[in-house]
Amino acid sequence: MDEAHRVDAERMRALLATNRVSPAAFRAAQAEVPGAYRDAWVDLIFGLGELADDDCALPSGCVPYLPCPVDTVSKMVTLAEVSEADLFVDIGSGVGRTAALTHLLSGASAIGLEVQPHLVRSSRELLKRLRGSRVAIVEGDAGRLTSLMTIGSVFFLYCPFSGARLEKVLRDLERIARARPIRVCCVDLPLPPCPWLSIVASDGSLEIYRSSAICRS
Ligand SMILES: C[S@@+](CC[C@H](N)C(=O)[O-])C[C@H]1O[C@@H](n2cnc3c(N)ncnc32)[C@H](O)[C@@H]1O
Repeated sequence: MDEAHRVDAERMRALLATNRVSPAAFRAAQAEVPGAYRDAWVDLIFGLGELADDDCALPSGCVPYLPCPVDTVSKMVTLAEVSEADLFVDIGSGVGRTAALTHLLSGASAIGLEVQPHLVRSSRELLKRLRGSRVAIVEGDAGRLTSLMTIGSVFFLYCPFSGARLEKVLRDLERIARARPIRVCCVDLPLPPCPWLSIVASDGSLEIYRSSAICRS
């Protein structure tokens, strides 16, 4: 990243630590950064360094931590029309980067579900730095926790797992969608057939689904 954008990132970091920055102001600042620098710009603002190794708490068959590219998160916020009225749930939230970034871009409240304790600790440190009172991280297996996220309205999955655990999470989301419509956003994650979900937008590896009306019986 060049010096001008590094200085700009430091300025935004200081602003976030002392002030509330509106989603419109954050989006405008991010739009000024060339695409090639955007991930580094966000990492500098968030104070994120090298990725830590995954630990033995990652259940077998689950995918290690890899941050979702900033441009994919921005597209998701736009295509899924995430707003401050939403509660965004990142299923497998890593260091909390996508949850925090979605909050800054949209004003939505956010919850991350993460199974690896060292990533949960990093997320909570990040939230302290950002004074992100509307973002929280819950530690545990999302295969068990998702059913508790009944107030979630937008659910995000950047390929955390597949197979039986994904099928269980999708059944839990279907149950949540019986009470209220939800959006499900997937990156690099082909879903098994879900008649209660309709795809409404896609862009590269990103797919956005909306739940259709489901009978409560
Ligand atoms: C590909 S990364 C995605 C990280 C994050 N969502 C993002 O957008 O940057 C997958 C994450 O899911 C987490 N994960 C995998 N299996 C999980 C499970 N069963 N419960 C909770 N988190 C899980 C991993 O520890 C990892 O942090």
